[in-house]
Amino acid sequence: MMNEPIERRRFLKLTALAGSTVIAIASGATALAGCSSGSSSVSGSDAEKLPVPSDAGSAAKANGLLASFALISDLHLAPDTAQSTMFSQTLADIAAYEQRPDAILVAGDIADHGLTAEFDVFKSVVAESSFDLSDFIVTIGNHEQFETDDPGEPDEDSEDYTAEHLAFKRGLFTSAFDLESLSYDKHVAGQHVVMLGPDNLDNIANFSFSDELVDWLEEMLDEDARLGVRTIVVTHEPIPGVSPSASSSQWGYYNSMVDYDRLLDVVLAHPRAIFVSGHTHLQPGVYAVEGGDGTPCGPIFVNEGAIGRGIIDVEDYEAGRFISMSVLLDIYKDRLYLRFRKHTDQTWFLDPVEIQIA
Ligand SMILES: [Fe+2]
Repeated sequence: MMNEPIERRRFLKLTALAGSTVIAIASGATALAGCSSGSSSVSGSDAEKLPVPSDAGSAAKANGLLASFALISDLHLAPDTAQSTMFSQTLADIAAYEQRPDAILVAGDIADHGLTAEFDVFKSVVAESSFDLSDFIVTIGNHEQFETDDPGEPDEDSEDYTAEHLAFKRGLFTSAFDLESLSYDKHVAGQHVVMLGPDNLDNIANFSFSDELVDWLEEMLDEDARLGVRTIVVTHEPIPGVSPSASSSQWGYYNSMVDYDRLLDVVLAHPRAIFVSGHTHLQPGVYAVEGGDGTPCGPIFVNEGAIGRGIIDVEDYEAGRFISMSVLLDIYKDRLYLRFRKHTDQTWFLDPVEIQIA
């Protein structure tokens, strides 16, 4: 069943703020209610009023950096298409960062139709780069579950995502990446990365997650909160209302996750969580929960742009004007630092977002 999108005023879009954005957020150990009374948020011209950490900013990046992740999605690879060149350029650009990421987290739609030949394109581009397959942590998108006429694929109606069809396509994905399950977790540089694959998909683009899967996530988030470990949850589709697809006319709004109430509640109960998604193909956006007095609180939600068919607006898609965009997430003990990269011309764009979240 389709959810009504959550009201956007419950969230603050941090990437929309002008100037170098520095956000103070209440301690992750504080419940959301505490966040609304004790935190502050200013940016741009008000930045001088901030309780900015003494080592904030680019000069400090060499010190105290715990982990760095490149967040990419929506490669849409297929043999003999421009997307493989865009992916290759992206990897060369990331390899030239001053700090090589600890891992590249890939939020789905790696292959345009979920075909083995398309996964082979991914592997061949990686083989020609300075990265290894082990540098990538991947999750499945909706495109990997498309109906096609591939040999061996169950012959079903393209609108009918049967259990047989989904099992076949998900089997191709897990085989290609040597995974035991669509959903799994890893620890990288002291951070906990959870890749969340959907266990429900009724049509071309409406993910949802079973109670069992959300229970599994909740247990890990609770344990990470107890241990003081940061959790990065990666899934392909954003939660509607917490992504750049602000308008119901844009792809990725209704054509996105459904039945997410419990998932959202679980994430919202863990202020130190970082929820990462792709799917929209729009330029990256970072969102925080809006506290009762209008201040931003954790957790944060990051929607990343796209490598294969990134667009600034819908007209770009129709005109075939594609760019490659991604996010670089740096994690410090008491803060997050997010930068936004346009790989097509090797430039940083949008204002960086710095978030204090202990
Ligand atoms: Fe997608």
